[in-house]
Amino acid sequence: MTKVIETKRLYLRQWQPADFGVFAEMNADPEVMRYFPKLLSPKLSDVIANKCQQLIADNGWGFWAVSEKDGPKADNSFIGMVGLNAAHADMSFAPCVEIAWRLHKDYWGQGYATEAARAALKFAFEVLALNEVVAFTAVINRHSQLIMQRLGMADTQEDFYHPMLDAKHPLAKHVLYKITRQQWQNTIEN
Ligand SMILES: CC(C)(COP(=O)(O)OP(=O)(O)OC[C@H]1O[C@@H](n2cnc3c(N)ncnc32)[C@H](O)[C@@H]1OP(=O)(O)O)[C@@H](O)C(=O)NCCC(=O)NCCS
Repeated sequence: MTKVIETKRLYLRQWQPADFGVFAEMNADPEVMRYFPKLLSPKLSDVIANKCQQLIADNGWGFWAVSEKDGPKADNSFIGMVGLNAAHADMSFAPCVEIAWRLHKDYWGQGYATEAARAALKFAFEVLALNEVVAFTAVINRHSQLIMQRLGMADTQEDFYHPMLDAKHPLAKHVLYKITRQQWQNTIEN
């Protein structure tokens, strides 16, 4: 059975069938998907959720489903995904592991994404024994960059154009953040 990661307020866990509908709702929400090239159909959303589920089953880690421990629907209800993923081979900085997040907008502004991401980083360094974790997002996605900064990640200043987008696309230009094991250790000691 896949291990559940617990934080003060959240669980990072394997995906359950009931999560898929909420995930599809998020992926069809223009606010949640503001910094992605397009909204996702329910079918494509399910394909992604299935892939996340399979990778966690195979590897024991991935983009975990996140649920609140004590919310009004504290029956392991799904609030979004946060976790780790092997960066796509097309990325110039691959092979490496990225950290990423996407929450249902009802759960923004509570520090949940940062809390879950801290647990995912701890897993990356303590369990997977990685030397480094990266994060990237569109230059205009300031909210996501704030999480990277809260985690103690550093802007490499190596902005790049996403290989799957036309260079003129408003989302094409990306920032690349990184955190090394030593930098992460400094953040938990201070
Ligand atoms: C990016 C995203 C996860 C950020 O969500 P978020 O809720 O702003 O992020 P955090 O969990 O770090 O929460 C920080 C906010 O919670 C507030 N907060 C409230 N209670 C808090 C607590 N107990 N602890 C910490 N922060 C708290 C902070 O003040 C901050 O608010 P502010 O941004 O108004 O200053 C969310 O906007 C999202 O899912 N976007 C769509 C997907 C996306 O763009 N993903 C990134 C693609 S690379």
